[in-house]
Amino acid sequence: MKVSSEQVVDLLRAAGESTRLRVLALLAAEELSVLELCRILDQSQPRVSRHLKLLAEAGLVERFPDGAWVFYRLALKSPGRAVIDQALDLIDPHDPVVQGDAERLALVRAERTAGAQAYFARNAARWNEIRSLYVDEAEVEAAILQAAGEGPFDEMVDLGAGAGRMLTLFGNRAGMALGLDLSQQMLNIARDEVAKAGLARCELRHGDIFATGLPGGCADLVTVHQVLHYLGDPAAAVAEAARLVADGGLLLIADFAPHDHESLRESHQHRRLGFADAEIIPWIEATGLVLDANIALPPTSAEGLTVKIWTARRPVTRTAAKNAERSAA
Ligand SMILES: C[S@@+](CC[C@H](N)C(=O)[O-])C[C@H]1O[C@@H](n2cnc3c(N)ncnc32)[C@H](O)[C@@H]1O
Repeated sequence: MKVSSEQVVDLLRAAGESTRLRVLALLAAEELSVLELCRILDQSQPRVSRHLKLLAEAGLVERFPDGAWVFYRLALKSPGRAVIDQALDLIDPHDPVVQGDAERLALVRAERTAGAQAYFARNAARWNEIRSLYVDEAEVEAAILQAAGEGPFDEMVDLGAGAGRMLTLFGNRAGMALGLDLSQQMLNIARDEVAKAGLARCELRHGDIFATGLPGGCADLVTVHQVLHYLGDPAAAVAEAARLVADGGLLLIADFAPHDHESLRESHQHRRLGFADAEIIPWIEATGLVLDANIALPPTSAEGLTVKIWTARRPVTRTAAKNAERSAA
């Protein structure tokens, strides 16, 4: 994308200040709330907000309110993106300022994960009850089954498997199913649930959605059910989930639509209050998957929440189609 020389000067001016460059380096790692940025930079909120405003006006970062919080992330498609990438690439990773910020970011991230982990450890045993607080589960599950199609699936991977609901839902339609979760307590419940359902070809492993360690294209069904709103970097989780989808395979994401139940942050460790199509769909499309279904299930009670289901398919490449033909012949 080409822009005028004057615009390039504006972009350089916006990025060309030490705090703003630090903000860009932090947002290159993950989206962050204003309060988190203040903590990491050790600067006041008005000061940080002023810098963020300038960066947003130059189109270098995107601002997105989420309930009472405001998050920032690097702009996905901006003429300034090349400027940022080059500037950040020039910085010595051992630079003390950048290193200090990275360490404080790691601390913020670790605290966030520890909070969520403690919550899941405390609530693992009553997860099935909590899960049905805001949604009509039967309706959501019927819609998920319909959106994913009949199958059968050779390999299913469920990321953030929790108490194993997606595994028990799809288990008998999948040749092999693998559930990954960060919480040992949730995994223990899932193991029981899977055993009760008599699903012998279902494995549960401790694992992180951001770094599954699984080979690319290993699954023809990947599910991420009610996980993204707990995560610090949901876009990165979508990218990792999509990486696992085989040619012709399906990614299914279910989460809440944007809502204003601010108390869920405190009471249930939600980081994000739902996701808009405008946010999720570009993340999916950036992975090369093609959006398939986009379903909204409105709440069935006054305090309920709208559940969204997005499915996307990895197109079959010519080579994969030829290989499939050969092995069928
Ligand atoms: C709300 S529960 C949903 C569980 C299940 N998918 C369901 O719908 O019943 C979210 C799960 O995501 C897991 N989780 C959170 N962060 C994770 C991460 N970085 N990697 C893997 N699992 C994670 C939690 O431990 C928890 O079990």
